[in-house]
Amino acid sequence: MKEIKVGVFGVNRGYVFSRHAQVTGLKLVALCDSYEKKLNEVCNDLKVPGYTDFDKFLEHDMDAVILSNYFHQKTPYAIKCLRAGKHVMAETIPCFTMGECVALVREVEKSKKIYMFAENYPYLNYNQEMRRLFKAGKVGKFIYGEGEYVHPIAPTSYNLMSPGENHWRNWIPATYYSSHSLAPIMYITETWPKKVNGFVSPHSVGLSDRAVRMTARRNDLGSMIVLRMDNGALVKLLQFSLRGHGIWTRIHGSAGQMENTRIGEWHYLRVRKEQYLQDKKEPKEHIYMPDFPVHNDLAWKHDGCDFFMGYHFAEAIQKNKQPFLNVYRAAAMSAVAIQAYRSVLADSSTMEIPDFTNESVRREYANDHWSPDPEKHTSKQPWPSIEGNVKPNKEGLAFARRLWKQKGRESYRVLGE
Ligand SMILES: NC(=O)c1ccc[n+]([C@@H]2O[C@H](COP(=O)([O-])OP(=O)(O)OC[C@H]3O[C@@H](n4cnc5c(N)ncnc54)[C@H](O)[C@@H]3O)[C@@H](O)[C@H]2O)c1
Repeated sequence: MKEIKVGVFGVNRGYVFSRHAQVTGLKLVALCDSYEKKLNEVCNDLKVPGYTDFDKFLEHDMDAVILSNYFHQKTPYAIKCLRAGKHVMAETIPCFTMGECVALVREVEKSKKIYMFAENYPYLNYNQEMRRLFKAGKVGKFIYGEGEYVHPIAPTSYNLMSPGENHWRNWIPATYYSSHSLAPIMYITETWPKKVNGFVSPHSVGLSDRAVRMTARRNDLGSMIVLRMDNGALVKLLQFSLRGHGIWTRIHGSAGQMENTRIGEWHYLRVRKEQYLQDKKEPKEHIYMPDFPVHNDLAWKHDGCDFFMGYHFAEAIQKNKQPFLNVYRAAAMSAVAIQAYRSVLADSSTMEIPDFTNESVRREYANDHWSPDPEKHTSKQPWPSIEGNVKPNKEGLAFARRLWKQKGRESYRVLGE
């Protein structure tokens, strides 16, 4: 097998990909981050050269780049990498506007390079098991699904992970972090979203939670997204910073239902099969801890679902075959986040998710640069909260500023540790 030389852009979340590159079949050769102190620490730890300048980094001898830079800035860097002849794997959110979705799919097609969306949640052990059961016909046809990514974070950590009032975590709309809830459902059932309706818990309601008041956030607290899939199935997604941490997938089929457990250890799977109209060979209810389908021990040792990101990226490059989480799924999931927010601002009316494989459909969205980025706000662009140009609350901003001043980016920690 040819060695795949990879560079990682952004060393915070990017450190996770960097430290297990070797076991997944990739050879880490360079890192890039403008935060020099952290970059040096990670470079010393992993014994690779570091760059603070992206263009210099891109000149390094490497086959592929993993993008783990700021949430809303993936597409321009992905396009630069593809044009430089590199394969790309990118963290969420792959595209921040509908126009970026079009530009990215066109560029991947033109470059003929591998593009993978690094959406790790489908590769949780129970989601991979649900895919196996679904494909084996154990729960019949897909009728209804739910995905949840509910991730409240203590205010000190939140502020330190979001250094600066304009850091993306302080303003991204509540529908934009939805790929963790949606990707498992698309992976298990291989269906595609076609229509979307979005709903949010507004910022002012979120302020009733003291943990939110202690941050510099000016976005809405959480969102619910309703999708119609291409097979007619209905899907509900719930995400963001509500209280009650939970990562959850639920699939209702025409012959059974399955979900990871909500009580106690959440890596367990519960499969429910009503006994009528079948030969009663299977238990009515089966709760168990599924293994990963391949490399079980290695995966548990190396960040669980994250292991499969490097593994499938390396496999796609070796086989020269686009991965399951290809650019079309990346664009579709990005479009759900964007169009759901459009729906929220239009009193939750229905929006389309275009078919990005079709060039005549793509043309309609190529110049759609609708973006809630407050740094690029114009009278034609939306604010990131349904309540408009929200200011961070005084108590939270003062607390965040004290922390940023005391610790700066010194305490910036790697997520997932
Ligand atoms: N899948 C997961 O479980 C998971 C977990 C955490 C974060 N993420 C994703 O990872 C990405 C990164 O998030 P994060 O938590 O690391 O925080 P972050 O976005 O604050 O970190 C990004 C890093 O990239 C660097 N950077 C950005 N632009 C740069 C530039 N032009 N030149 C040089 N360096 C630059 C920054 O200095 C910073 O260290 C985001 O897209 C986030 O959504 C995913």
